[in-house]
Amino acid sequence: MTKKYSALDRQKSIYINGLAGKKSKIPTDLCRLKEKAKKAMNPQAFGYIEGGAGNESTMRSNRSDFDRWKIIPRMLKDVSSRDTSIELFGHHLPSPFLLSPVGVLEMVHPKADLAVGKAAASMGVPMIFSNQASVPMEKVSAAMANQPRWFQLYWSKSNALVKSLVQRAEKCGCTAIVVTLDTTLLGWRTRDLDLAYLPFLQGKGIAQYTSDPVFLDMLNQPTVEEGISTKPPITFTTISSIFSLAKTYPGGFINNLTSGIPLKAVRQFINIYSRPSLQWEDLAFLRSCTKLPIILKGILHPSDAQKALDYGVDGIMVSNHGGRQVDGSISTIAALPSIMDVVKDQVPVLLDSGIRGGADIFKAIALGAKAVGIGRLFVYGLTIDGEEGVKQVIRNLMADFELTMGLSGCKTISEINRDCIIKG
Ligand SMILES: Cc1cc2nc3c(=O)[nH]c(=O)nc-3n(C[C@H](O)[C@H](O)[C@H](O)COP(=O)(O)O)c2cc1C
Repeated sequence: MTKKYSALDRQKSIYINGLAGKKSKIPTDLCRLKEKAKKAMNPQAFGYIEGGAGNESTMRSNRSDFDRWKIIPRMLKDVSSRDTSIELFGHHLPSPFLLSPVGVLEMVHPKADLAVGKAAASMGVPMIFSNQASVPMEKVSAAMANQPRWFQLYWSKSNALVKSLVQRAEKCGCTAIVVTLDTTLLGWRTRDLDLAYLPFLQGKGIAQYTSDPVFLDMLNQPTVEEGISTKPPITFTTISSIFSLAKTYPGGFINNLTSGIPLKAVRQFINIYSRPSLQWEDLAFLRSCTKLPIILKGILHPSDAQKALDYGVDGIMVSNHGGRQVDGSISTIAALPSIMDVVKDQVPVLLDSGIRGGADIFKAIALGAKAVGIGRLFVYGLTIDGEEGVKQVIRNLMADFELTMGLSGCKTISEINRDCIIKG
């Protein structure tokens, strides 16, 4: 049982600490949160975390479309006690949000996923382990006791690898599989392209692969490269990258350097990590690998929501990957109403991309979402203050949401509905 955090206690502790001249390292103002995190990152990390596809118009829509919906607060409704909890896939959650999968967290903090897992577990908020994590799922699971975690799958070219990852997730206590559908190709990410930087090439964010027996077995087989060669021109920077790869890759530095295994692993990863040919029919294979609930992440069209139901999935996550995949895409909050018209309450519908505060959570729930996911927000907390930073971000979001809910005249999540908001 995790501790119950109340919004008023949160507010009180911040103001009382202020009397002693103490301020939190984590700004509650989200612009300041991002700015502070930016100062703590190198330009490559900030470009990778903050960046979106193309002109980043999807990222802007993710925000401006939330702002189009307005909450209409109701008065005199006795909101002296407020319950923000929900039930989701058998878990009792303190607040209707979870941590969306974010890869390559080692770019912003050495403890990476481990720090996030501990913070999430201490707050009872589910963490979705990324397929591109910096720490293997078993290690993060071991630090989370019986607190909720799910596994996010990128469907690689190898079904044997898919099966192995899913079965590892099941074995280490993950209670749902989230299949991300929107990244069968990597989006045109202008910030990363202009910095000519992709973390995976430095062996970052591939810990789920390098800890997987099926993937390790693939390293003994010849790699058939698609497209142009992944061999870069030899410069001083190339050599220094090879040294840093040998340092960060599991196993000893000298062994890594002499065996060439880390480079082989990176090449193999590049060759197999995604499967652009994926189709609806392939879902049957995943179903055969696991009894866990399967949630499709990246659904934006109502017809795809209908297909998801037809193919018997257990949940839908309306997401545009935080605007990182398709420039000019519909925002998730704009996509939600027509998806809800199709899904109704047949399966839980989750939403992420653009959530920046309690009001956004309230609006998504009013439009039918069961819960939302946050991405960059918790990464900023991690960057600034590791595990404690993630905890503070979660506590602030919980408090903000609880106050928004109460001040809008709702005591419980079930009282939040379409009547609470208006487009205008
Ligand atoms: C740096 C970064 C890495 C991400 N890595 C993954 C990933 O490995 N798998 C995945 O399904 N989504 C990934 N996402 C997308 C998030 O799960 C989520 O959809 C998105 O961050 C939500 O938008 P927000 O950042 O505006 O909250 C990533 C997002 C960011 C910002």
